[in-house]
Amino acid sequence: MKTNSQVQIDPNNLPQHIAIIMDGNGRWAKRRFMPRQIGHRAGMSSLKETVQTCSQLGISVLTVFAFSTENWKRPADEVNYLMKLLVEYIHKELDELHENKVQIHVLGDYSTIPEECKVEIERAIRLTKNNQGLIFNIALNYGSRQEILDATRHIAIDVVEGRLKPEEINDSLFSHRLYTYHVPDPDLLIRTAGEMRISNFLLWQIAYSEIVVTNVLWPDFRKNDLLAAIAEYQKRDRRFGGLSHKQEGSK
Ligand code: IPE
Ligand code: IPE
Ligand code: MG
Repeated sequence: MKTNSQVQIDPNNLPQHIAIIMDGNGRWAKRRFMPRQIGHRAGMSSLKETVQTCSQLGISVLTVFAFSTENWKRPADEVNYLMKLLVEYIHKELDELHENKVQIHVLGDYSTIPEECKVEIERAIRLTKNNQGLIFNIALNYGSRQEILDATRHIAIDVVEGRLKPEEINDSLFSHRLYTYHVPDPDLLIRTAGEMRISNFLLWQIAYSEIVVTNVLWPDFRKNDLLAAIAEYQKRDRRFGGLSHKQEGSK
């Protein structure tokens, strides 16, 4: 039975960084015998509500997967529509995001996206860059393998040109060469629409993230679904390869 009561979470054990693979827009539309575009548009309300909720809860970082390097394989119409929606979202929401002290970043190479989209993104990044609230990363034309290759290439150049010694390459240095250099790794990774895969998202960064896959399609994802994912995260025993507190206690 569906209830309207709000899922309870522990405010003292919040994930610092939440990453979301926003999937299922097409299936949401298909179930309604509507074009995929309608699903993408409906997903914008979920994004708006998710950003607001993260801000209100005091989450430090939210990273959303908006468009992957592989999504160019889709028909041009759909790709253009997705870009247009993103421009529209930033255009409509920017003032409110700025008022709420949200700091916007884009992860991925956005140099190849349409000019109109680039201008809007750059305006948003510029306006919000000194904000101290939620760090909101939009992964756009993002691919994790591409990101890892870019980092590797830059490190190789530094070694060849004598600025870096091979033995100085470690976990922390590598992390700081990724597009996510400004944030800690995600504590919680949520995927909507039920697929049990990562689809080339944050491969390095999710080494120890807790993964929650929900069957809820992205356009249906509301505040309570986010709270439910956080509640699920709070039940997990994060061991990072060590022993849990309980196991340690019974030594
Ligand atoms: C997520 O929804 C949006 C993007 C990947 C850009 P999909 O468009 O992938 O929806 P499904 O997976 O076909 O339902
Ligand atoms: C992942 O969803 C990419 C985004 C959410 C932007 P996809 O729908 O592209 O992933 P696959 O094709 O099911 O792996
Ligand atoms: Mg999909």
